[in-house]
Amino acid sequence: MVTTSPKALTLVMTEEHEMLLKMVRDFAQNEIAPVAAEFDETGDFPMDTIKKMGAMGLMGIEVPEAYGGAEMDTLAYVLTMIEVAKADASHSTILSVNNSLYNYGLMKFGTEAQKQGFLVPIASGQKIGAYSLTEPASGSDAGTMTSRAVLNDAGTHFIITGRKSWVTSGPVADYVVVFTMTDPEQGSKGVSAFLIDMSKSGVQRGKKEPKLGIRASATSELLFDGYECPIENMLGKRGEGFKIAMTVLDAGRIGIASQALGIAEAAYEASVNYARERVAFGAPIGKFQMIQQKIADMKTRIEAARLLIYNAVLAKERAKATDGRFTTEASMAKLFASETAAFVTDEAVQIHGGMGYSKELPVERYYRDARITRIYEGTSEIQRMVIARNELGLR
Ligand code: CAA
Repeated sequence: MVTTSPKALTLVMTEEHEMLLKMVRDFAQNEIAPVAAEFDETGDFPMDTIKKMGAMGLMGIEVPEAYGGAEMDTLAYVLTMIEVAKADASHSTILSVNNSLYNYGLMKFGTEAQKQGFLVPIASGQKIGAYSLTEPASGSDAGTMTSRAVLNDAGTHFIITGRKSWVTSGPVADYVVVFTMTDPEQGSKGVSAFLIDMSKSGVQRGKKEPKLGIRASATSELLFDGYECPIENMLGKRGEGFKIAMTVLDAGRIGIASQALGIAEAAYEASVNYARERVAFGAPIGKFQMIQQKIADMKTRIEAARLLIYNAVLAKERAKATDGRFTTEASMAKLFASETAAFVTDEAVQIHGGMGYSKELPVERYYRDARITRIYEGTSEIQRMVIARNELGLR
């Protein structure tokens, strides 16, 4: 919960947050962590644990109960993401796309009918949602997509064609928010958003990407070939798609920052335990200053990342009241937390030596899983660009 005072907002950890934290931590450590290595190895989608998280209300944390969610706040979402990512980053990726990239957009821009049809089944965990912005030739430069949505002569449906790529949960999603051009001559102002039902004809799932990390989070292309989208399934107004995509990514970036923090915490805790136990030159390696320096730097960056995430949570709560933005705070949290995860997981491998490189321990998985957090939902370079442009008042 967040309390307001005339001058400042404060994050308050309520009893409800404590209960949620305990429930998620127990579930993550008892049910997710034990299967993480196996799913990483096979690359299979962890449907059983995802369905259980849905039943626990974790697929719609901030969604009102009336729409199938748990009706909690962003702090609850962040706490959940950190704990799940600590157990397994892949699970937290699936969780994050559902909660922020999909649900947040529906909550903010959906009509009542869209919420009933497309939000309730996803927030309640019965179905899986996805978000599709990227195309093979447009990733960071998201406004230059080549897929098209053309209104039919009767004015009843948009006909969608084109190829979307890097869709998290693409191989399994039931519904997808897709961003595509309705008015290409208008550049990013010609992008519109559509709610896609993957059970209908005219859309196919493309090849599943083989990945370095977060291997149990399935990623694929989506191939549109004349998909007929009813006009009532346009999310927001025609031409509003790019703004919707960016607004939703602001929320998503807080989720990825939390994921990065969870991975970093897992690597850090493993390192502290190892530094206490591993003996070399007649002493636990934690007695040596070079290891101590690593531990001190890892811990300091982790806590700094946490504060930037809390800062972004506060900014988002403030923005709710004013319908304002929290872009810079979200980008700073994502930038710093993802680079912290890279630093911490790299140092964790170093502290563990050969065992850090071995698949017998999860440390090498933390190292691989951390890498994507500097790429997806906006690279570190894009986050720096967003922060600097906002600070300089540039566009
Ligand atoms: N909130 C609301 N509106 C925003 C916004 C935001 N955060 N950022 C930009 N806009 C608006 C601007 O105000 C502007 O509208 P007006 O002209 O009416 O003011 C419009 O959008 C265009 O903005 P820009 O001129 O700044 O756009 P740009 O083309 O220069 O690019 C960008 C901006 C920041 C580089 C953007 O393209 C971007 O964030 N790129 C990265 C995309 C990204 O994160 N992709 C990852 C996709 S998801 C994924 O990873 C897969 C997955 O499944 C997890």
